[in-house]
Amino acid sequence: MFNSTVYTGRRDRLRSKMQSGIVLILGNTEASYNYPANTYHFRQDSDFLYFFGLDHPDFAGVLDIDENKDYIFGNDVDIDDIIWMGPQPSVKEQAAGVGVKNTASFGTLFDFIKDAIAKGRKIHFLPPYRGENFIQLEKLLGIPVGKIKENASVELIKAVVSLREIKDEYEISEIEKAVAIAYEMHTTSMKMAKPGIVEREIAGTIEGISLAMGGPVSFPIILSVHGETLHNHYHGNTLETGRMMVTDAGAETTMHYASDITRTVPVGGKFDSRQKEIYEIVLNANLKTIDAAKPGIPNLDLHLLAARTIAEGLKDVGLMKGDVDDIVREGAHAMFFPHGLGHMMGLDVHDMEGFGEDYVGYDDEFKRSSQFGTAFLRLAKRHQPGYVFTIEPGIYFIPALIDMWRNEGKFTDFINYDKVESYKDFGGIRIEDDILITETGHRVLGKPIPKTVDEIEDIMRG
Ligand code: GLY
Ligand code: MN
Ligand code: MN
Repeated sequence: MFNSTVYTGRRDRLRSKMQSGIVLILGNTEASYNYPANTYHFRQDSDFLYFFGLDHPDFAGVLDIDENKDYIFGNDVDIDDIIWMGPQPSVKEQAAGVGVKNTASFGTLFDFIKDAIAKGRKIHFLPPYRGENFIQLEKLLGIPVGKIKENASVELIKAVVSLREIKDEYEISEIEKAVAIAYEMHTTSMKMAKPGIVEREIAGTIEGISLAMGGPVSFPIILSVHGETLHNHYHGNTLETGRMMVTDAGAETTMHYASDITRTVPVGGKFDSRQKEIYEIVLNANLKTIDAAKPGIPNLDLHLLAARTIAEGLKDVGLMKGDVDDIVREGAHAMFFPHGLGHMMGLDVHDMEGFGEDYVGYDDEFKRSSQFGTAFLRLAKRHQPGYVFTIEPGIYFIPALIDMWRNEGKFTDFINYDKVESYKDFGGIRIEDDILITETGHRVLGKPIPKTVDEIEDIMRG
């Protein structure tokens, strides 16, 4: 946990951004896996962690905006709990650690909220994402489960985004710890990427590194010689020379801040000329967009810069043709780069995505594109100092998409389909880093993880 003043400061800033009423932030409960008592590893809700800091199940936090009071509702453990889980500090003691004086049992939350509703007070809550909290909110507020999301407080969402999107020095240092864990995960993955090994042997090993050095992985590991499948969680392929292996993996620290890094390496450690050619294009897109990152620049511009760099590179190797600006304006590059450049990162690996991506990545100035490719950009708005986000361009040869566009006669002025045919066995390449926007520019977070062709070949040589 951070110092209690970090949490009181966050709650005071939230209060100053809200007009009136009650802010209700439910923590998470345990979630069952395959029978009630066999639960997933507990993960606290990120908003509860941000404002109330306590990493235990079955708490709710309340800010009374008008009365300037904060509350934690939760139950003290009884002897049965102590026998199974060990001694725990009282709710009062835990709350004091995050600067909250008012505590009460969880059951009293129902009367507290009922009383506030009876007085005509507004109850602000965030969109839930777990079934248990949908049900809890229905019980607390009397809003049917199916209507909970549409009744979430837009005023609260916007206030929380404006706070959580600016990372303070403590948070940045946590994220750097998460990248340090990712360094170990990724360099291990590179060294293990030898012909004959099965993907799951590497995936399991690096997941273990995350657990041993901090917390769980920040999202299920993507590790595959079929990197053209963007979120490939199948780990059953045997590595063979001639394939590229994508590892997209990050860790949570013990405080639950995330990293999210992707590296792509040739199985066996030596790029062939075709792999090197495509790799250098993606690397160039990664480096150029990182270089351009600074306060005030829209992330949409960085995305389009990556798209132009990719189109230019693919033109140079004969896979695309025509004018690069036309290619990107029309969206033809998206056959090879069908996703956005990146997303905010923090307590969630896709930070605050549960509120709705547009609340986090878009604003009055930027509306989401409807064009295939750019439509998937999660973050478009202008950068501010304190933003932490990913830059993750990629080039993929997706046989089903190539066939579909070719059959539709799509972008025949821009795509050299005959040459693309011979790349259908290539797979995909993505290179992802975690970037902080500073007052004057940017900083790539963490110790640099091998990224150039030489650096990768060096480390893979052992
Ligand atoms: N970890 C998935 C992504 O890169 O967004
Ligand atoms: Mn990633
Ligand atoms: Mn990412």
